[in-house]
Amino acid sequence: MLQVPITKTQVSRLDSVDWNNLGFGVVFSDHMFVADYKNGGWGDFRIIPYGPVPMEPALCTLHYGQSIFEGLKAFRAKNGGVNIFRPYKNAERFNRSARMLCIPPLDEEIFVESMKQLVALDHEWIPRQRGHSLYIRPFAFGTDSFLGVRASRTYVFMVITSPVASYYAEGLNPVRILVDCEHVRAVRGGLGTAKTAANYAASLYAGTKAHEAGFSQVLFLDGVTREFVDEVGAMNIMFVIDDELITPPLEQGSILAGVTRDSVLTLARSWGMKVAERSITIDEVVDAHRKGRLQEVFGTGTAAVISPVGELSYKGESFIINDRKIGPVAQRMYDTVTGIQYGELEDTFGWNVHIEL
Ligand SMILES: Cc1ncc(COP(=O)(O)O)c(C=O)c1O
Repeated sequence: MLQVPITKTQVSRLDSVDWNNLGFGVVFSDHMFVADYKNGGWGDFRIIPYGPVPMEPALCTLHYGQSIFEGLKAFRAKNGGVNIFRPYKNAERFNRSARMLCIPPLDEEIFVESMKQLVALDHEWIPRQRGHSLYIRPFAFGTDSFLGVRASRTYVFMVITSPVASYYAEGLNPVRILVDCEHVRAVRGGLGTAKTAANYAASLYAGTKAHEAGFSQVLFLDGVTREFVDEVGAMNIMFVIDDELITPPLEQGSILAGVTRDSVLTLARSWGMKVAERSITIDEVVDAHRKGRLQEVFGTGTAAVISPVGELSYKGESFIINDRKIGPVAQRMYDTVTGIQYGELEDTFGWNVHIEL
């Protein structure tokens, strides 16, 4: 097992947490995991109190954005202990992002062990309410200080955790989504398949404009033709047309390989549902809606698990999906994924990494 020296905080902030108003990603637990990359290797693994990171104004990441991150969750399991949901999938994706950003990869076992030890130490920070969880944010960035475009030679890897409320306080509320024909977040050959700061920076302007117009998210189309559906700013997108579950393929080259996406596709196949990972144009979606064949649209992602879409707005026209109600596929997916996460349903696929406390 990885030997990790722990420096405990002198004063825990746990007592100041308002468990009924957690929000998302605004409260952070007492400790963080840190590792440094220098002289060609990762080392100096340690857990220390959560706190500021010293940096110079010339920190290369501030200027050139060489940073990657992950997002996953830990849950209080029904029969005791903690479940971390599919951390090896995040480890794999983290290293895929690392390669694309010229950041040295981290051993997958160390990636998973880092969060197991941190979550075990800060286990009192895992909310007790059903639907709430401990969000885990591993990330890495270049730590050289210089001006000039080249890959950094030193890096830091960190894991911080944040107790979070259920994404939708009043249950699964179908959201309004704007199909953006103007802005793009990623193009094939670019960084869209990596979980890196640049993609989120690229989505901010479109997202802000959409919020101002009363939409909660943007559905991005492919960057070349603006015909094919890509994904939502922080979720993958799925359609149910004629009882078939359809989602854009990873080969499209500009979307993130969501862990929830993979879980939903695996479940759908195991239920005998027809599933297609194929390119789908926004015209096909609109046409299916006009013909009454579009049954459901929903987003998939770690934060909300399943986010039903009640309305798609495209070129000034509104398309109401399933009467703005959550559909049966979305509901069953949500119930099954969260049931497995909280240890209420059998973990048939071996997705949870369990920690006994
Ligand atoms: C751009 C983007 N697409 C899709 C997802 C969904 O991925 P996951 O299911 O792994 O959370 C996320 C969230 O992590 C994201 O940021």
